[in-house]
Amino acid sequence: MDLDMFAHPSTTENISQLISFGNRVIGPASGELASGLKGAGRMLEPDEICSFMVKALHPNPELIGKKVLISAGPTRESIDPVRFISNHSSGKMGVALAEEFALRGALVTLVAGPGVVMPKNGAISVLQVVSADQMLVQCIAEFKNSDIAIMAAAVADYTPIAVADQKLKKKSDQVHLELKPTVDILARMGEMKTKNQILVGFALETDNEIVNAIGKLERKNLDLVVLNSMQDAGAGFNSDTNKITIIDKNKNAVPYSLKSKKEVASDIADKIISCFSK
Ligand code: CTP
Repeated sequence: MDLDMFAHPSTTENISQLISFGNRVIGPASGELASGLKGAGRMLEPDEICSFMVKALHPNPELIGKKVLISAGPTRESIDPVRFISNHSSGKMGVALAEEFALRGALVTLVAGPGVVMPKNGAISVLQVVSADQMLVQCIAEFKNSDIAIMAAAVADYTPIAVADQKLKKKSDQVHLELKPTVDILARMGEMKTKNQILVGFALETDNEIVNAIGKLERKNLDLVVLNSMQDAGAGFNSDTNKITIIDKNKNAVPYSLKSKKEVASDIADKIISCFSK
């Protein structure tokens, strides 16, 4: 609005009445107006309106502006130009986390393995990788500038020592593939972690679940570990639901019920927020 129009009693009284009904008013900003007059009447910049709305709409403002790194999906380790070693991870949990953190106002970078269905929120910055080695490079580079990192990817633990240039031909006898360990990305981040960063890992276990998950939390210097048990129905790969237990540094294990991955992502975000206040 122009200055006179905005300052007119019909406008100010209407605005006061809207506020009295419980509405909130965003702006205006002061500055040069279309008529050449200077004063109140300018629309706020779109990003100012956005950040006002994110704060107003979300009851938990703790994640606004936090830099969050999330890994998702499988990796592929090439054997030859047409074959690879991989796993059944869909990346759905990591993508649900990325969507949840972005919704809460965080600045999210998603490092996604092959086949991961991209997040709908265009504000999420996606780095696509294929191999464990590529995921390592992207995650380590991003981690340096992150407040929170959540490694939900199912990274290959081994990769072929040599990748054949040509397609390997079928032989009549047994074939042995020689594998070497990949770098444990999460453990590497645990070594780099500063006291202001929060590092969260996942542990997919089939047996001795709590003990194994605590072992990972300690070995990899994590703040939280999210345990999935393959024994729980609805918690496996490619499912839209998950059943988790979150374990903290004091070895407190909190089990959650079977929920959609979106709800699980919200539970994980809430738990991470509780780490900030400690
Ligand atoms: N992870 C990683 N880099 C690897 C292997 C695992 O960053 N090379 C991360 C995963 O993203 C996950 C956590 O480590 O957050 C645990 O992964 P998991 O496969 O459950 O455990 P491992 O440490 O690989 O141990 P194991 O396979 O023996 O259970």
